[in-house]
Amino acid sequence: MRFTIAIDGPAAAGKGTISKALASHFSLAHLDTGLLYRAVGAQVLAGADPLVAVKSLHPEDLKASTLRSPEVALAASKVAVLADVRNELLALQRSFARRLGGAVLDGRDIGTVICPEAEVKLFVTASAMVRAGRRHEELRRIGTVISPEQVLADVLARDARDADRAIAPMVPAENALVIDTSKLAIGEAVAEAITIVQKVIEL
Ligand code: C5P
Repeated sequence: MRFTIAIDGPAAAGKGTISKALASHFSLAHLDTGLLYRAVGAQVLAGADPLVAVKSLHPEDLKASTLRSPEVALAASKVAVLADVRNELLALQRSFARRLGGAVLDGRDIGTVICPEAEVKLFVTASAMVRAGRRHEELRRIGTVISPEQVLADVLARDARDADRAIAPMVPAENALVIDTSKLAIGEAVAEAITIVQKVIEL
């Protein structure tokens, strides 16, 4: 069975939690594609050339705990504007999306570029204030000291770079269903996503 759920949207909107919950509920494989860009960004921060870094990417690189830092997120969004870097990551993501047994991928261009043929496309979003508040709390929990104002500024800067870039900008796919999680508890957002997918499966 080939069945792809494409989930796009800005940082800290709840994509990751929804993706993991859908993968677990429907027994699908999950790929957080942001980790690919974060792993390249982390190597660039350490002095590597972006193209060399992306070509030498290893599955183990995606497990580093340092990938969640705000510095790496910013570096990821900078390498993500490079056509060579994006092209290098295309085949891996496309074959993951169409793997037997089905898959959930979350990112910025899954429904538009990586897998426009996905059976379900969601665009998960929330207001910048709400997303910054969630990201600040996440960072606080892992011990990162940063002001809420700085987190909001980082979120807005990353949104702008991701939405305004020339190649594969963050934009809802034409037929994507939008889930705005600003006023939803995470359990409600997950329940909404499960209902949407279930309806498609039953068609
Ligand atoms: O999703 P996450 O916040 O981990 O992504 C980090 C950065 O990687 C994003 O801000 C974006 O610039 C880039 N990215 C992308 N395309 C994807 C996934 C992530 O450009 N499919």
